[in-house]
Amino acid sequence: MQRLISSRPIPRAPSKRGWLDALLFVLFLTGMGALLIRGWQFYALSVGERVDHSDFRVLGPSGSLGQSYGIAGTVLIFTNLLYLVRRRFARLSVGSLRTWLDLHAFTGLFGGMLVVFHSAFQARSTISLITLGSLFAVIGTGVVGRFLHSLAPRPDLELLDRQLALLDRVGPNMGQILKERVTRVPVAEVPGRCSLWTALSALPTFWHEAAQRRAMINHVIGYYAQHEPVAVARLAQPIAVCSRLFRAEVRARAATALLSAWRSMHRLSALLMVFLVVMHIAIAWYYGFIWAVAE
Ligand code: HEM
Repeated sequence: MQRLISSRPIPRAPSKRGWLDALLFVLFLTGMGALLIRGWQFYALSVGERVDHSDFRVLGPSGSLGQSYGIAGTVLIFTNLLYLVRRRFARLSVGSLRTWLDLHAFTGLFGGMLVVFHSAFQARSTISLITLGSLFAVIGTGVVGRFLHSLAPRPDLELLDRQLALLDRVGPNMGQILKERVTRVPVAEVPGRCSLWTALSALPTFWHEAAQRRAMINHVIGYYAQHEPVAVARLAQPIAVCSRLFRAEVRARAATALLSAWRSMHRLSALLMVFLVVMHIAIAWYYGFIWAVAE
């Protein structure tokens, strides 16, 4: 039996998207660093002091560079909505949805950062203040959603079955018994489309379910360990993988429930922000036009 039992580590598939995440992260930090270095001395001044600075007509919101930041930020934020088009045509083979979602997050964050530089770190009118507030709401909800998204995919059930088959080699079907006992633990039911309240109030049930699954796994493994301690000890790694995957199933259901409630918040703040950005541009244009005529 010992020949069949392998304690070699399970090879992990190399992450294809890891490099893209790293690239976008470096791009974001480099961009932010460059903008900070360019304007640091100006942004550190108070409103009154800025007027006498040589960059006043360059980095202020209506300055040549400041305005370009605003335009580039707005273009990026609108570009980021292309993700919705890609999601609508999910069958098209133009990059995976995950990659598009990464680009959605990147363009949203980078665009948001450019808009903050466009404001030169101060919001002097109510509309600018509300627009910035709604931008932070979209980005804040976006970051939370991205985190939930990373928890939502169901764990690799084929890997789980392969690991359970390894455990079957201990005693009479340890793997099958483990699966049967763990899936007996009652499951929290949450409707596909639910409110935030429903999703949040189901969280304790999910936690309880994960704890019960862990207890059940320990119970079954403990039982077999009494009879075949050497075999069970050799299978420590597949046992740990099964335990992680069984609990990841519960985590994925909890994250999916939260995501369904979260989506409407992100969508609403995005709609509000897009509306306010359009208002902001229209007002800036209108007053720019009036001033141009008055001059
Ligand atoms: C700043 C501008 C942004 C806008 C205008 C925007 C807009 C949207 C919209 C309209 C949706 C579709 C919501 C739905 O399913 O009905 C969405 C989805 C999403 N956004 Fe954003 N977003 C922005 C930034 C971000 C950022 C910065 C992140 C992450 C860091 C992010 C993460 C997500 C995620 C995870 C989804 C869900 C995707 C899915 O389940 O298919 N968003 N966004």
